[in-house]
Amino acid sequence: MYFLYQFNGWRGMPRTALRSCGIYVCCLSSLWLSACGEQRGAALEALEPAASVGQPGGWADDLQLAAPRDLNPDPNILEIELEARIEPMEIRPGTLTPVWTYSGGLPGPLIRAKLGDTIIVHFSNALPEATSIHWHGMRLDNDMDGVPGITQPPVEPGGELRYEFVARDAGTFWYHPHINSAAQVGQGLYGPLVVEDPDDPEAFGDDVVLLLSDMSLDADGQFLPADHGGAFGDLFGREGSTLLVNGRVVPTLKVRAGKPQRWRVINGARARYYTIALRGHSIVKLGGDNGLAARSTPVNRVVLVPGERADLVVIPSRNPDATAMLQWIPTDRGFGSVFNRPRQDMLRIETVDEAPVAPAAIPEFLRQIEPIDISDAIELDLDLTIDTQRTREGSQIVMGINGVPYWDSKPLMASIGQTQVWTLINDTAFSHPFHLHGYFFQVLDETRIPEWKDTVDIPADSSVRIAIQFDERPGVWMYHCHILDHADVGMMGHLFVGADEHSTPPELHLMH
Ligand code: C2O
Ligand code: CU
Ligand code: CU
Repeated sequence: MYFLYQFNGWRGMPRTALRSCGIYVCCLSSLWLSACGEQRGAALEALEPAASVGQPGGWADDLQLAAPRDLNPDPNILEIELEARIEPMEIRPGTLTPVWTYSGGLPGPLIRAKLGDTIIVHFSNALPEATSIHWHGMRLDNDMDGVPGITQPPVEPGGELRYEFVARDAGTFWYHPHINSAAQVGQGLYGPLVVEDPDDPEAFGDDVVLLLSDMSLDADGQFLPADHGGAFGDLFGREGSTLLVNGRVVPTLKVRAGKPQRWRVINGARARYYTIALRGHSIVKLGGDNGLAARSTPVNRVVLVPGERADLVVIPSRNPDATAMLQWIPTDRGFGSVFNRPRQDMLRIETVDEAPVAPAAIPEFLRQIEPIDISDAIELDLDLTIDTQRTREGSQIVMGINGVPYWDSKPLMASIGQTQVWTLINDTAFSHPFHLHGYFFQVLDETRIPEWKDTVDIPADSSVRIAIQFDERPGVWMYHCHILDHADVGMMGHLFVGADEHSTPPELHLMH
């Protein structure tokens, strides 16, 4: 507690004071020592630098993800196979759940490439229904975007498709289907994709991916029907009661005091929001959706909405032989979303009984992010809407953009070279995580650290402005709420980016 108190006090310091420190972690590590009642100078000398020791033996074994086999001898091409198939797994002890997987893994294999690599995926579908793969956050050509009916035909059972794209941005991404998404993602179809920048400093620590998700299971480990809870489920978004980190229930991660770990956190849940907070340990946020932000910043908590990623350095505090619990913390996403809900355990963090080490400095400046020039921008309002329709079967929830559900929508129009500013308006009682395919945007909010994003929360009763530059890659791109239950009942739209102002959108059959 003392530690957190100090931490807060320090964050409240004027920026000039922070600057004079120059580098965050020199503050952080001295703080980290003084918080433990150590004599600063003496302790710093006594401690070994973090770089000279490794992570504790088997530190991330419990979070291990399968690595796909690279079929291509070229070091700059990662060529893999992925098969969507059902695999029985013991998620709840003593029961077998027929999990929908990529190549038998939950999550799917960790696709790890380096900046500039070409990624080729031979995809095959052994599921009983059609599917596709969307590469969330990747700036790829439109025909590789994985949206059935828009950028490709659905991959039918027994069908195959080849995806190929270049890893143009370093960062943490993920892949998932884009058809019947709430059900397919809810039953396990998601996997991480990490693009490494070989120039990242060692101070960022050793990489570990944490893919957060949940499942709606009954006592026998069977999936609840994808539409359980009916209209209320559509409205609230369905959160599964079984919480998973890398497909496991409360796995263990080992840490060593002072030895930084780089947590690449992905929210792959169909509706759940997460707040990452760790009592005692310190967290420095590097960025999120598109890798590094402009500056690193120490944080007490990070909220992750569905689809969003966080790039964090966690520096374990000096408390050998202790266990901490990363919990799901009720996170407000609108009407009734936190009422009467307990915290739930997600990940056990075990500090091993080894001498603490001194973490290296994390630079404050990370990269230059030029603000998008919006002086000639076209302005649009997108209102995220919820309506109730009465049908013979009772009342039904229909969501949309500007009152129009996806299946009735006309495309938004843009052309290469244009800049647009979208005001995303949410007058509903629920928060909506807004996601755009194909382009990273900037949130127009001076209180935020500049970064490139593809998914942003639009809290209930608020609005958020984003700037987008359509500088390349024409085609039809999707935007939608990443609460997949909301997207499925209509809160989704499409955008035509023409090669020039005279291009006309193709005839499309929008799938319901
Ligand atoms: Cu992560 Cu359109 O999706
Ligand atoms: Cu996407
Ligand atoms: Cu929504």
